[in-house]
Amino acid sequence: MEEQIIGIMGAIPQEVDGIIAILQDKTAVTLGNRTYYQGRLGKQQVVVVYSRIGKVAASATASALLLRFHVSEIIFIGVAGGIAPHIAVGDVVVARDLVQYDMDVSPLRPKYEIPLLNKTYFETNELRSKAVLLHIENFLSSAVLSTKIAVEELNKFAIKQPKVYFGTIASGDQFFSTNQQKEDLQRALPQVLCVEMEGAAVAQICYEYNIPCSVIRTISDKANQEASFSFESFVQQISQVYGQEIIAKLFQ
Ligand code: ADE
Repeated sequence: MEEQIIGIMGAIPQEVDGIIAILQDKTAVTLGNRTYYQGRLGKQQVVVVYSRIGKVAASATASALLLRFHVSEIIFIGVAGGIAPHIAVGDVVVARDLVQYDMDVSPLRPKYEIPLLNKTYFETNELRSKAVLLHIENFLSSAVLSTKIAVEELNKFAIKQPKVYFGTIASGDQFFSTNQQKEDLQRALPQVLCVEMEGAAVAQICYEYNIPCSVIRTISDKANQEASFSFESFVQQISQVYGQEIIAKLFQ
C-alpha cells in the first residue's frame, strides 16, 4: 500500500516553525510563493507549510497540498480570537465544524451558505479531532504546561487553567479588533467559539476533495480592542510551543 501523507498547515510562520524544527529527513520545495517542508514526524510522513493569511491563500495552499503533494488528510493548526464569553487566552478550540461568516448571497440562498454547494457548516474528521482533544487536555494540565512554557510567560497572558473546547469556528477575511465586530458575530452566529481567517476555507476544499480535515486553534486574543497587541505578543512567545507540542504528541 502507498504511504499516507498528512498535510499540516498554519497561516503564519509562528504557527508552524516549531513543527518544521522537529521534522526528520527534511526537504523543502518552493512553489507559488510558499515553501512546503516534507519530512517525518515519528513514522508519519508529513508536508508542513504556512499559507499566509486569509481564505484565498489558505484554499490555494490546501489545493496544492492535495494535488501536488498528494496528502490524504489536512490538519490546520494556529491561533484564533475568542468569541464565546467563556473562552480565554491560552485555551484551545478544536473545530467540530466551521462556517464562513462573510459569505452572503442572500436573498438568493440563506446567509452563510456556500453557493452551489448548498452547505454552510463543514464538519471535521471526528476520529482525529477526538484524539487531538485528549492530547491537548494532557498538554494543558498544569503539570505539563509549566514544564513547556515559563510561568512568567503564562502570567503575562493570565493563562491559569487553560481548557480545550470542541465546537464551531467561524472564518472570514477580517482581523477582529473591535467589540462591535465581536458582538455582531455573536449575535449572528451565537454558537461560534472563536474567529480566524482560514479554517473554513481549508475545510471547504477538503470537503470538495473528500479528504478528512481537522482545525486546532489556540486563543491568542479576545477579538476586541486589545486583540492586535495580544495577538502579536502571543504569536511571538507562545504559539510555537503549543503547535509543536500538540502535533508532536499526535505522531509519537
Ligand atoms: N486570529 C487570531 N486572532 C484573530 C482575530 N482577532 N481576528 C481574526 N483572526 C484572528
